Amino acid sequence: MDPADILSQIPIFSSLGDEDRSNLTERIDRQSFAKGSVLFRRGEPGNALYIIIRGQIRIFASTRQGNEITLALLGAGEFFGEMALLDGQPRSANAEATEDTELHFLDRDNFFSFLMHKESALRAILCALSRRLRRTDDLLTEAYFLQISHRLARKLVELHEGAATAGGAPHPLCITQMKLAGMIGATRESVNKELNVLRKKGLVQTSRNRITILDLARLKRRIR
Ligand code: CMP
Repeated sequence: MDPADILSQIPIFSSLGDEDRSNLTERIDRQSFAKGSVLFRRGEPGNALYIIIRGQIRIFASTRQGNEITLALLGAGEFFGEMALLDGQPRSANAEATEDTELHFLDRDNFFSFLMHKESALRAILCALSRRLRRTDDLLTEAYFLQISHRLARKLVELHEGAATAGGAPHPLCITQMKLAGMIGATRESVNKELNVLRKKGLVQTSRNRITILDLARLKRRIR
């Protein structure tokens, strides 16, 4: 597809006219990352905004002990890397490609000239930042007030229903305990303990990196 056509499908660029879009296309670079590549780590200097054309990026924070928390899973049309550009500080989190991923990137000067000239782009960025802050507030509130058993049951139901709506086979869920822990702000050990409880109650069956939900109705009852 023509790069200008790709830009027209990305929300922050969709309001650009043809001329602005083709000017921007000349200032944007393209890069591909294989599944599993780490694009950058927290603390590194950041000089570019990335826009996802295809694939998926996981934004996560990690501790020295190897525990991780997934802050966001971003897909086609979404962007990341704006925070270091906006406040001039290092990268606030790590970014990894969880699928083969293709990105456009815009350097700092082009990012600012684009934002300053397009009010709609500024609005779209502010709107996305608010949305992310809301999600992070939810995650923080849950991690603070809800038991792990509740958070885990809710995430398993969500993953199960997500797979079902996407038309994929709902069973089994292919996910490591580490990833699952990162999604609910818990340690791998506590997820392992909780999965043992669910297994003993006959709600799930687990094998290497696979979780099969055996009794969805009872699992749902745990999150009421
Ligand atoms: P930056 O700090 O440059 O690099 C890491 C990027 O991850 C950051 O910009 C944001 O684009 C993104 N990011 C950081 N924290 C969150 C969050 N809580 N939710 C969604 N995206 C985030």
